[in-house]
Amino acid sequence: MDEAGVEERNATAAAPDAGPALSKSARKKLAKQQRLEARKAERKAAEKERRRRDVERRRREWEETLAAATEEERAQMIGSRREARRERVERRAEEREMRALRLRRAAEVGPKVVLDLEFSDLMTPNEIHSLVQQIMYCYAVNGRCASPAHLWLTGCQGELDTHLQRLPGYYKWIIEKESRSYIEAFQEQKDNLVYLTADSETTLEEIDQKKIYIIGGLVDRNRWKGVTMKKANEQGIHSAKLPIGNYLKMSSSQVLTVNQVFEILLKFIETKDWKDAFFQVIPQRKRGELEAQTYEGEDDETLATAIGKLSEDEVELESAEEDGIVLKKPRTIEAEVAATTDGVDQQQ
Ligand SMILES: C[S@@+](CC[C@H](N)C(=O)[O-])C[C@H]1O[C@@H](n2cnc3c(N)ncnc32)[C@H](O)[C@@H]1O
Repeated sequence: MDEAGVEERNATAAAPDAGPALSKSARKKLAKQQRLEARKAERKAAEKERRRRDVERRRREWEETLAAATEEERAQMIGSRREARRERVERRAEEREMRALRLRRAAEVGPKVVLDLEFSDLMTPNEIHSLVQQIMYCYAVNGRCASPAHLWLTGCQGELDTHLQRLPGYYKWIIEKESRSYIEAFQEQKDNLVYLTADSETTLEEIDQKKIYIIGGLVDRNRWKGVTMKKANEQGIHSAKLPIGNYLKMSSSQVLTVNQVFEILLKFIETKDWKDAFFQVIPQRKRGELEAQTYEGEDDETLATAIGKLSEDEVELESAEEDGIVLKKPRTIEAEVAATTDGVDQQQ
């Protein structure tokens, strides 16, 4: 069997019970996705190794400098290192406090945004993993934002909930965690519910403080096309799509990932400028090439980079290299996000 044949067979085998039977072109697309994922894994491993070496090199340099120093110089070097670290720790504690204040205030006055987590059954384990990463990103970015949204996770149960519960610091997240569906949780305000979906005929123009905006918690490479539109119609609630077409030239699909939609909303709340929000959130390479595809597969990498960037200034990957004695392992992305949020205490 040639390479394409093998990939096709793998593609078919890789999606048992994950959705409707795949057409030939969908199988090809999935095979391409698998190739991309394999390459991504290689790049990730190489990056991890590069970082490990970098930390090791710096530790060695520090030890050599210490060894070459006089007793007095050594004491001074260690002292100033300790002082710098103490300042960083204090700064982070202050930032965490400010973040908590902003998030608590958002719970009172912020616009409500719901991540609808009722689609676990439609996703493969990898897709659920991606969704958890996207939720972490949403939480981290919300905490950093000057005017955060009042963020809800609804339909939070089963496998997805188990994954979330395992995240370091998740129990401390300042967010509404609701096992009920949004339709139950907001039954008194049903008329204010607006399901955001790329398939809606209505275009979102403004963010209305009274409304509750719902984002489908789904990573599906648009395999389940129209599923959120159908859900909104069946429930008799409003729907709206982002006004992407008014600002960007994208040849067909305008389906974005959960975190992109959320971040666009946050940017718009801050600037009241859709164009700016789209340009800031949608990566440039994606804007031109959004042809009949969603972003989400490839975006895992962008997301990981973004999560890494978010925490860059806060996480000390080699904090214990202070004094040149112990070396901590670099944190996982999950731990880094926890550090950008509230779980930092736990990590140290
Ligand atoms: C990856 S998409 C899921 C696509 C899915 N097939 C569906 O029917 O919604 C994740 C969620 O982001 C939101 N979303 C994505 N693109 C959007 C757009 N252009 N306008 C409004 N919401 C969008 C929707 O809530 C969507 O459910």
